[in-house]
Amino acid sequence: MALELPALPYAYDALGPFMSKETLEFHHDKHHMAYVTNGNNFLKDSPLASLSIDEICKKAFAEKSAGLVNNVGQHYNHLHFWNWMKPHGGGKKIPAALMNAIDADLGGYDKMRTDFVQAGLTQFGSGWCWIAKKDGKLAIMKTPNGENPLMHGAQPILGCDVWEHSYYIDYRNARQKYLEAFVDNLVNWDYVEQRFSA
Ligand SMILES: [Fe+2]
Repeated sequence: MALELPALPYAYDALGPFMSKETLEFHHDKHHMAYVTNGNNFLKDSPLASLSIDEICKKAFAEKSAGLVNNVGQHYNHLHFWNWMKPHGGGKKIPAALMNAIDADLGGYDKMRTDFVQAGLTQFGSGWCWIAKKDGKLAIMKTPNGENPLMHGAQPILGCDVWEHSYYIDYRNARQKYLEAFVDNLVNWDYVEQRFSA
């Protein structure tokens, strides 16, 4: 299975002012493209190539294949990241079943927001913060570099990219402001709900 770069599900200027056209051009066209190209190179001679992308993530991590973990992992992470955002998203407009789980497992919306931002802020260096389903419950997680919750026995339902390439053009070093804008103004809760219910 060759990895392919999908088109963004919205226009490059659709997420302004919270994420600029320039950021999306670099992030999608250059950075995500590089993960696709490098991932395909690593997969070319790999016995994992015929598996689904979810399975490649899990097996590559178990086998400590750093090239696949980082490049196929990042391809998986970015495929969903584009869909985890939408124009006029974010805030508390959350489908009921998902909101109930946030209340039950994450202490309600405000605590979820605080803990998610904190996970992104305290991820040292490059990585991701997440809401994931683990052992039937929601949990806040963070992972370094190209790793994701699949590699740690969990199913990601929301993730935010805290690599500098995701925020430095728009926020410089203010990672907290970027994370707060992501939760308050960008999250596509309908896509999160789809992954929660799947
Ligand atoms: Fe990224």
